[in-house]
Amino acid sequence: MAEVIYGSEIAAEIKAELKIQMDALKQENARLPRLVVILVGAHPASLSYVSGKEKACAAIGMENELVKLGEDTTQEELLTLIQKYNEDEAVDGILVQLPLPKHINEAEILYAIAPDKDVDGFHPYNIGRMMMGSPTYLPCTPKGIMEVLRRITSVDLSGKHAVVIGRSNIVGKPIAQLLLQANATVTITHSKTAQIQSITKQADILIVAVGQPRMVTQDWIKPGAIVIDVGVNRDEQNRLCGDVDFDAVKDKAAYITPVPKGIGPMTIAMLLKNTYDAYLVHRKRK
Ligand code: GUN
Repeated sequence: MAEVIYGSEIAAEIKAELKIQMDALKQENARLPRLVVILVGAHPASLSYVSGKEKACAAIGMENELVKLGEDTTQEELLTLIQKYNEDEAVDGILVQLPLPKHINEAEILYAIAPDKDVDGFHPYNIGRMMMGSPTYLPCTPKGIMEVLRRITSVDLSGKHAVVIGRSNIVGKPIAQLLLQANATVTITHSKTAQIQSITKQADILIVAVGQPRMVTQDWIKPGAIVIDVGVNRDEQNRLCGDVDFDAVKDKAAYITPVPKGIGPMTIAMLLKNTYDAYLVHRKRK
């Protein structure tokens, strides 16, 4: 029976530490870190994600502005808004919630965010720094996964076989890079991978980020593996579930993250951490 790793508990510790920093800044009457979240349209999952981010900021006392724009917002309007926040010295972090409506060129939008305010770590400059192993804002979900893995103290990633399912820019590609930097041997698999189970069965660490309810079952798993489930899905009964069949896999894995209360809360905690780090950089410059 696996040990269940509640990211929600680790996230609560990180948020409590950040709240102490916010309280100290308030005592000093200092400017507070400020995060701007921009949502275009009303994608249901995105609405829920941005509301989670808003609540987390409020809970620790970080300043937060949620900008909700209509589905028909143009590329130029969005670029103009980003430019305004790039120039605003009271803003430390800018996050444009993805996915964006189809008529918007996502890459151009991500390029437009000032790299020093890119608390998502999605700007090509920051992705390049991450690839080189230079200090930078790391994408929040991969950063949260690495934090979870670091806290399983018995696990040294060096020389371990880490298998990633999924190759998105948000999770799959960056987590593979971070695991590589931690000296794991990394295999990236995806929807076109042949005989995927024969690969996942070799995984000491399995990261699943595909968006398919309960796709990974017991026979995909090596006994004693660490299983990290990044999926957030609704099943046929409209219940939240991950990409991993938790009930089946928990008997075979050594460690497993649940959905909900697993990686999701870590993503938000890392966003707050990145925003605070950006604030410290901005404050030093003045
Ligand atoms: N959509 C799903 N995950 C994320 C994330 O981490 N950041 C942004 N901006 N959009 C997302």
